[in-house]
Amino acid sequence: MTDSSLLRDYIGNNSFLWNDFLRNELLSDDVISFLVSVMHLSGKTASESVLVFLASLRYISNDYTIASGFGKSLEIKPFLSGNYDELIRLCCTKKVQANFPERGLPVMEMISLQKPLKDVFVIELGASYGLIGKLLLNMPDIITKTNNYFTDKQQFPVSWLSISSYLGIELDPPDEKWLLACTPDDQHLIRLKQFIEDYRNTENFLLLKGSAFDLEDIIAENKIDCLKVTPIILTSFMTYQLSKSQNDELESVINSFCLKYDGVWLDQMVRIASAGHDDAYFIRKDGIAYVKLDSDRCENWEFL
Ligand SMILES: C[S@@+](CC[C@H](N)C(=O)[O-])C[C@H]1O[C@@H](n2cnc3c(N)ncnc32)[C@H](O)[C@@H]1O
Repeated sequence: MTDSSLLRDYIGNNSFLWNDFLRNELLSDDVISFLVSVMHLSGKTASESVLVFLASLRYISNDYTIASGFGKSLEIKPFLSGNYDELIRLCCTKKVQANFPERGLPVMEMISLQKPLKDVFVIELGASYGLIGKLLLNMPDIITKTNNYFTDKQQFPVSWLSISSYLGIELDPPDEKWLLACTPDDQHLIRLKQFIEDYRNTENFLLLKGSAFDLEDIIAENKIDCLKVTPIILTSFMTYQLSKSQNDELESVINSFCLKYDGVWLDQMVRIASAGHDDAYFIRKDGIAYVKLDSDRCENWEFL
């Protein structure tokens, strides 16, 4: 398949991500040829190129509601020709970094079922802004629903426990503006801004710039004693951004870490990682699926 047909396929088949107007804009020849250039220059997949393009439009325009697929849209062609260089730069250098706190809710239920013997230390690889960590560390507030970030439809964990600390490791920690530009839902945006504000000063929270592949070195450099705790390694909607060989390498980094420190690896997987396999949203522990998620927004889930 050519890059252009991969793009057309992805845009055509994922209508839940955008309205008809935006889909037609994305399918125009100018946009497709721009996206093909992004794929060639950056090595990104079709899906990632489209998503990073939409985030870049919102970022440059300073309007998070445009190109959201839900709210108002914009005619992309004139915007593209007026901002071509800046758009290419952003699309090639930035990654999609949407970060949804609610993704931590089913993870919390999974963690509590491990019955850890020591204090739980969550290390998230590919943490973006670290909002899953903020949720995990603020569970008393979250579980009593004092925070109004969540909608009525949100499922909450049946059981949960206190997390002693959280470390997020992120290749390129986003600034708040880029994070919000990666949020493709303008209704959600308002609540997300409030959530960020509410938990800005969370204790025992650390977000470090670094690569997931350097997990061992980062732990050593920061003098973190993982033998005193139960480390939970979390990869949440990040492995789809890695190639097959990178995924294999990461798996071996995580497995040897877990072996050394008696840790557990929880992986939340995104649908576009497995094109052709619908509804492939799971939490896997050490490679085995335990939880089925309704979507990458984790509004509902069930144990298998
Ligand atoms: C789609 S975001 C998901 C963020 C968060 N885990 C969540 O579920 O909301 C994926 C993140 O993984 C990061 N990432 C990708 N490869 C990475 C690597 N090798 N090391 C560290 N972070 C990485 C990206 O920069 C991005 O912020």
